[in-house]
Amino acid sequence: MSKPIRILGIAGSLRGESYNRAALRAATELVPEGATIEIFELDGIPGFNQDEEKNPPAKVTELKKRIREADAILIVTPEYNYSIPGVLKNAIDWASRPYGDSAWDGKPAAIMGASVGTIGTARAQYHLRQMMVFLNMFPINQPEVMIGNASERFDPEGNLTHDATKEFIRQLLQNLVEWTRRIDQPQA
Ligand SMILES: Cc1cc2nc3c(=O)[nH]c(=O)nc-3n(C[C@H](O)[C@H](O)[C@H](O)COP(=O)(O)O)c2cc1C
Repeated sequence: MSKPIRILGIAGSLRGESYNRAALRAATELVPEGATIEIFELDGIPGFNQDEEKNPPAKVTELKKRIREADAILIVTPEYNYSIPGVLKNAIDWASRPYGDSAWDGKPAAIMGASVGTIGTARAQYHLRQMMVFLNMFPINQPEVMIGNASERFDPEGNLTHDATKEFIRQLLQNLVEWTRRIDQPQA
């Protein structure tokens, strides 16, 4: 029996009726057996100040602890002005510091995102992938879950109602779990 995989899910929106937070909630129910997703909400994290990086706010300390406890990371990002939202970048920056003490280092990851537009956060996702190079994270490549026209894929209560999207998310999570187990193999 392989060990359970703990995934930390982070959505890059603070909005009450956020499609991305809704997509993350949907993911918690589409995760394969033997894995779980715990959600970390980004509200309440102050703007990054390098003067504080060695003594960060409590919420940042908690975020770094939760990242370190997780086997893998799932980021669900909106697209703001062709990139990721400031709240998400801010959290990424805090958890990457101080230099040499990044919580992200070596983590397997998966990315998805929802947008009301047709492009479905593609541009934001590629910016996030680029950041993961410097963070030394290992994002899986496929499937690319880019949820366009989000207003048609969720009901008014924020439930994901689009079956093909559910299938993409299920596959993304399956691949993330397999990838995480592969990375976790002890070296010969
Ligand atoms: C500041 C801002 C910038 C945005 N820029 C983009 C964009 O570049 N591309 C896009 O597809 N949607 C853009 N949108 C629309 C978002 O896709 C939409 O607001 C979406 O619902 C945000 O995600 P959320 O529902 O999880 O909060 C933007 C929205 C805001 C508030």
